[in-house]
Amino acid sequence: MSDLSIDIKITKISESKISTVDFDNLTFGKIFTDHMFVCDYIDGTWQTPEIMPYQPLTIDPSARVFHYGQAVFEGMKAFKDENDQIWMFRPEDNFNRINKSSHRMAIPEFPKEFFFEGLTKLLHMEKDWIQKGKGNSLYIRPFVIATEAAISASPSNSYKFMIICSPAQSYYAGEVKVLFAEEFSRAADGGVGYAKAAGNYGAQFYPTSLAHAKGYQQIIWTDANTHEYLEEAGTMNIFFRVGDTLLTAPNNDRILDGITRKSVIQLAKDNGIEVEVRRVRVDEIKEAAKNGTLKEIFGAGTAAVINPIAGFEHAGDEFDLPKMEDSYASFFKQKLMDIQYNVSEDPHGWRFKV
Ligand code: COI
Repeated sequence: MSDLSIDIKITKISESKISTVDFDNLTFGKIFTDHMFVCDYIDGTWQTPEIMPYQPLTIDPSARVFHYGQAVFEGMKAFKDENDQIWMFRPEDNFNRINKSSHRMAIPEFPKEFFFEGLTKLLHMEKDWIQKGKGNSLYIRPFVIATEAAISASPSNSYKFMIICSPAQSYYAGEVKVLFAEEFSRAADGGVGYAKAAGNYGAQFYPTSLAHAKGYQQIIWTDANTHEYLEEAGTMNIFFRVGDTLLTAPNNDRILDGITRKSVIQLAKDNGIEVEVRRVRVDEIKEAAKNGTLKEIFGAGTAAVINPIAGFEHAGDEFDLPKMEDSYASFFKQKLMDIQYNVSEDPHGWRFKV
């Protein structure tokens, strides 16, 4: 990734808006940096990429993205260490996954050298937006939308690949309680659950708003056929600690192949924590909560990092989780952040120097 020589047209803003930003009080995903990366797909080819001032787009109202949701996205982060060096975490996995998502949504794959050259240039231009200190990061949102002005229900002939960036602290503020899904589903066999298709997330908003009204921040989705198995939490993959064993559902075509998820599984193995990647029954988790062996539930994702769950509800049964002194959630969060912020060794080569 170092011998890149891609032409990128660069137009810089005349005055940065960074001085208007209160970096100590950020709401996730509300503020965007000065520039964005844009590359159009026209006549069967990705055109010369551009980095330009962050600005609204002009897109025809008939563009297929508006009618059929032909769109995919990724979530990544950049971190700054004590020496002002910028790092990313396993970015090649995000690159591979956006193309896997694109493939499923009949979107042409994006070239690797455009992705890495664009991302690296953009991050260098936005380096002042990446604040030092654990917990601070720059959230990076690559995405692709179908732009062809045509409403026939078929794949678009033109697309826009973009990267926008937003300074971030934590994703969830305060305690997170979850509802185990009994009626609604996130994904089905043979569907698009494994892809970061925009519609996977939009389709969760309504059931999640019902959960909010009952005091729950997220839904843990269960399998669509029986609602007996716990799958993922929509913005995060999900882990259960029963006794000292960590449980998480296996990847399949319904569950996102989360990069934080697989890093946690690896870190568990590295640190002698027993981990079972297998289907997890709603009943066994409720039973474990009743008999006191359920010690923790936590989510794992790029935006959320590791997010402890304080309690859950299923079929009217409510459970509070104990507050753990030596929680796995804090252990994994610490381990991950030490790698991300270049504090510890990186035995698996996950860190990427920008
Ligand atoms: C991420 O963790 O980056 C995600 O994609 C979740 C997002 C919907 C906030």
